[in-house]
Amino acid sequence: MCGIFGYIGQDSAPSIIHKGLKRLEYRGYDSWGISIIDKDKIRTIKDVGHLPEEIAQKKLFSTIGIGHTRWATHGGITVTNAHPHFSKDRSFVIAQNGIVENYLELKEELESKEYEFETNVDTEVIVKLVEEGIKKGINLRNSLISAFKQLEGRNTVIVLDLKDKRILAIRNGSPLILGIKKDEIFLASDPLAFNQFTTEIVEVNNGELIEIEKGKFKIFDIDNNKYIDRESKIEKLLDIDIDKGKYAHYMLKEIVQQQHTILKATEYTEKELKPLIKQLNNAENIYTIGAGTAGFSADQIAYYLRKISKKSAISIKSYETESYLDLITSKDVVIVLSQSGETADTLEAIELFKEKGAYIASVINMPGSTLSRISDIFFMSKAGSEICVASTKVFTSQISFGYLISKTLIGEFNEAKKELSSLSSNLESYFTKERFKDIENIANKLVNKEHFFILGKGQNFHIAQEGALKIKEISYKHFEGFAAGELKHGVIALIEKGSPVISIISNDMNRKDMISATYEVKARGALTIGIGDMDFENEKCFDYFIDVAKTEELKAISNVIPFQLISYFLAKALGNNIDKPRNLAKSVTVK
Ligand code: M6R
Repeated sequence: MCGIFGYIGQDSAPSIIHKGLKRLEYRGYDSWGISIIDKDKIRTIKDVGHLPEEIAQKKLFSTIGIGHTRWATHGGITVTNAHPHFSKDRSFVIAQNGIVENYLELKEELESKEYEFETNVDTEVIVKLVEEGIKKGINLRNSLISAFKQLEGRNTVIVLDLKDKRILAIRNGSPLILGIKKDEIFLASDPLAFNQFTTEIVEVNNGELIEIEKGKFKIFDIDNNKYIDRESKIEKLLDIDIDKGKYAHYMLKEIVQQQHTILKATEYTEKELKPLIKQLNNAENIYTIGAGTAGFSADQIAYYLRKISKKSAISIKSYETESYLDLITSKDVVIVLSQSGETADTLEAIELFKEKGAYIASVINMPGSTLSRISDIFFMSKAGSEICVASTKVFTSQISFGYLISKTLIGEFNEAKKELSSLSSNLESYFTKERFKDIENIANKLVNKEHFFILGKGQNFHIAQEGALKIKEISYKHFEGFAAGELKHGVIALIEKGSPVISIISNDMNRKDMISATYEVKARGALTIGIGDMDFENEKCFDYFIDVAKTEELKAISNVIPFQLISYFLAKALGNNIDKPRNLAKSVTVK
C-alpha cells in the first residue's frame, strides 16, 4: 500500500527519491508524487499510474525532498489527489500513509471555519489542521503534532518544510524506518526502499516525531515532547537481495528459492526455540493467527500442532477476532504469522490480545517491522525479500517453522530437521525445465475456463485454499478451494461438463476419499487434474496429473508448489502483470 520516502543529504534528492519509490512499487500503488526544495520553492511533480523509469531531473535539483506512492482509499485516482499536498501558502507539503478514520468529522469542522477543500482525500484534512495551528501562532512542528493527535486510525505523515529546509514525520501504525549514512538520512515505509544506499537502520515507534535537518535526525515522543536518544541503537539490516537474477519475474525466482528458504526458516537451534517451546508447553490455549496467505499458514500450523504435538490449537483470522477476545487470557500463547509484520488487521488483533496478557510469538520476514517490536518473542523467516505481491516462499517458510515447532514439542527436533533437509534436496531436482514445461502445458489448457475447484483433505485442506488464493490473485480466474468432504454437501451442484477440478492427493489416510471425490466430479463431466504423490499418477480418475517433490511429512509444502507454478504460467499465458497484480498491495497497512 502507500509508500513514503524522504531524503536529506549531499546527493540529488530527485534521483534518490525516484529510486526509493521504484523499490516501494511492489507494495502496490496507483499514483505517485515527488516534492523537493529547489532554492526558495517547493517543487512537486506527480502523476497517476506507474512512476516512469526516469524523471525529468534537469529541471529539478535539490538535496532534500520527499516522495510518495499512493494507494487510493478516500478519493479517486487523480493527479490532484496524488500526494504530496501543498499548504495554501506553499510553505510545506504533506504526504500520508494510512486512513484518517474521522476524516469526515474533521472536514466538516474545518469547513465550518471557512476552510475550502480542493480534493476529497483525507490528507488534505491534515494539511488544513496544521494550517489552523499555524494561524493560531503555533510553529509548524507543534501544529503538526497537535493535528496528528486529532487523527483517528493508523497513520504516518511526512512533511517537507521550506522555511527550515527539513523533513518532519510522525508515525502511528503505518510503518516508518530511518536509514543512516554519513551526512545522509533516508526515511521510508520499509528498508527495501533505501538498502541500496545504506544498511544501517534506526527503528521508529508509534507516537514518535522525527526531525531531519542537514543530514542529522532527532526523535521525540509526541506525548511529552521529550527527546529520545536512538542514535545509539543503529542496527544493521540483514542482506536484502532484490535482483531478479536469471528469472523473468520475481514470482518464479521466489518459487524456485523455496528449496533453500524452507531450510533458512528453520535454521534455529533447539536452544533458540526453547523459550517458545516452554511457553507452548505451559499454555492453556494456543492460537495461531494471520490474514490472507499468512492466515492459511496459521491454519496449517494449528493443524500441525494438533496432529503432531496433540495440542489443542485454534487458528483465527486476523480480521475475525471478535468472538475470541473474551476467551483470551494471560495463560494463552498466540503464534502470529506475517510476512511484512505490518498488516493492519494482524497488528490490531495482536494489540487486543496483548491487552489480555497473552504471550505473543511472531514469525516475520521483514526486518525492523512493527510486529517484531510488539511481540514477546519473534522469529525471522529469513526468506529474503519477497517482492512478488503473491506470497510463495514466505508461506512455505512459515509452515516449515510451524512444523519444526510441532515436532520439537514431541522431542523430534532432529527428525524434523532431517525431513526438511530431505525435502529441500528433493525440491532442488524438482525445479527442472521439463517440469515447468509440463505444468505450463496444463496451465495453457485452462486459459479459457472461468470457474475452478480445488479439493483437499486433512493435511491438504488448507493447501487447497491457499492454492486457490494463489491462482486467483495472479490469474484473476475464479478458483475455490474446498475440503473434499464438503463436496456432497453442496459444492457438487456447481460441477458441470468441463468444470476443472484439481484434487490434491497424498499417500495418507485420506487417499481413498480423494479418489472417490474425484470420481464423483468426473462422473458429472469435470475435467480432473491430480496434484500429489507420484503413486497416483496412473489413477484413472485423473485426466492430468502433476507429481510433487518427495517427502514423508511435509506434503503441504510439496503440494502447494504446483499451484504456485500453475498460477505463474496461467497469468503468463493471460498476459497479466505477474509480480504486481491488479488491485492488490503487498503490505496491507490499512484496514
Ligand atoms: O504481510 P502479511 O503476511 O501479514 O500479509 C498478509 C496478507 O495480506 C498476504 O498474505 C496476502 O494474502 C498476499 N497477497 C498473499 O499472496
